[in-house]
Amino acid sequence: MKQSQDLQTILVLDFGAQYAQLIARRVRECKVYSEIVPHDISVEEIKRRQPAGLILSGGPESVYAENAPSLNPELFDLGIPILGICYGTQLMAHLLGGKVNHTGKSEYGKTKLKVLSENTLIFRDIPLRLNVWMSHRDSVSIAPPSFLAVAQTESTPVAAMENAEQNLYGVQFHPEVVHTAHGLEILKNFLYNACNCVPSWTMVSIIEEAISLVKTKANSGKVICGLSGGVDSATAALLVHRAIGDNLTCIFVDHGLLRKDEARQVVETFKEHFHLNILAVNAQERFLKKLEGVVDPEQKRKVIGEEFIRVFEEEASKLKQVSYLVQGTLYPDVIESGTRAAARIKTHHNVGGLPIEMDLKLIEPLRLLFKDEVRTLGEELGLPEEIVWRQPFPGPGLAVRIIGEVTPERLEILREADAIVEEEIKRAGRYRQLWQSFAVLPAIRTVGVMGDKRTYAYPIIIRAVTSEDAMTADWAHLPTQVLERISSRIINEVPHVNRVAYDISTKPPATIEWE
Ligand code: XMP
Repeated sequence: MKQSQDLQTILVLDFGAQYAQLIARRVRECKVYSEIVPHDISVEEIKRRQPAGLILSGGPESVYAENAPSLNPELFDLGIPILGICYGTQLMAHLLGGKVNHTGKSEYGKTKLKVLSENTLIFRDIPLRLNVWMSHRDSVSIAPPSFLAVAQTESTPVAAMENAEQNLYGVQFHPEVVHTAHGLEILKNFLYNACNCVPSWTMVSIIEEAISLVKTKANSGKVICGLSGGVDSATAALLVHRAIGDNLTCIFVDHGLLRKDEARQVVETFKEHFHLNILAVNAQERFLKKLEGVVDPEQKRKVIGEEFIRVFEEEASKLKQVSYLVQGTLYPDVIESGTRAAARIKTHHNVGGLPIEMDLKLIEPLRLLFKDEVRTLGEELGLPEEIVWRQPFPGPGLAVRIIGEVTPERLEILREADAIVEEEIKRAGRYRQLWQSFAVLPAIRTVGVMGDKRTYAYPIIIRAVTSEDAMTADWAHLPTQVLERISSRIINEVPHVNRVAYDISTKPPATIEWE
């Protein structure tokens, strides 16, 4: 997306991926464009990129560890303003002749910080005493020559340091974490006062840049886009549509494993409201046929993924001279594939993803955006709230929430129960706080009693979790009244269900989905 040469960029050097992402997101909240780069990026590359400033992220290592991640010290001589955070500060001190204490004593959590001078750039217009968030074992005990220690805590003598002449700054605490009072202002001081950035990276500018980039790339070529109903593909499609209008055709494959009303809503929104060219394919029977007798979770994913690609290709081949495919790839995926090899616990077929054999060039208008930015962008483009804020949903859909064979009857039971969960969670005002909340249909039946008759019917399991990124998750501590309402409604309204249970497992060791 980055296009114009004059777009000011802050590069975040990554010394531990989690930290770097949060910093980049906060910088962007200050309306300054920010990208994450590996910590060992070459000096030549930095010179080529001409960033307005550099931020050295925190990281889990000690500067004294064998193979501790480092950087080329020539970076400090380029005249580019640099802010170190936690590990980044320790590294700066270590490389520039200061001293880092390796006592093994840690400082963790909210800590009182005392600013030592009123004339610091980093703490300009910030109270001299404030609570900051600390999370470190090592710390700087002596600032490098020509640096001033500008803040301290009870156990850290150099909690912040500055070399105003060279525009080098370091903080031991984490200004990117919400628990640090005035954290954003501290970042803004660096961005606006040290780097001379102006807050110009707004949603309007993001949209303009993306549109002009798509226009240039696609030119007058034909483009297709797989719509899944999720916010990413929906936002990507709308952006591309704004850029190239009717040269875009969206393909929506209804595999019959979607949530209640989802298919109708997607088609209505894009066809009737936004007037996009939509090829909506009702492939429900095809998928159900392929799923007959399939009980193994990985096999289900494989069958669904392959069938999806087949249907998508069939539809795409009906269109003439398509050269581009839109993908809703997000920035965390870009970073992930660039910096880490994530362990795979389940094969996540990216249904709605790239049909590899189609030999199309990719258009990825969201590849530099975080999820929350995509949501804001979606809202800006006029997407309805139900799509913008819909919780994540696995590509293979309800199939991985039906343990055992997927049949039309069992799909119907789960779909109805799931709709009740969604309705009640929304009614309780919890929908946006939860990462996901849904129903699961296990492959057992249990005994119950209704009226004076014995029943032998299915239980439904409710799963509701909080999570930042789905890598770990906690079960949601929902109010008992909410659980009670969900249970009573499901048992009363969904035929063949006589029992409701609540899953209280964390991830790990459980996963979010049941299959
Ligand atoms: P688990 O169950 O592994 O899920 O804790 C983590 C996140 O990934 C989603 N998920 C999938 N997404 N295809 C997808 O596109 C899949 O096969 C798949 N399986 C799990 C899940 O909903 C959760 O958000």
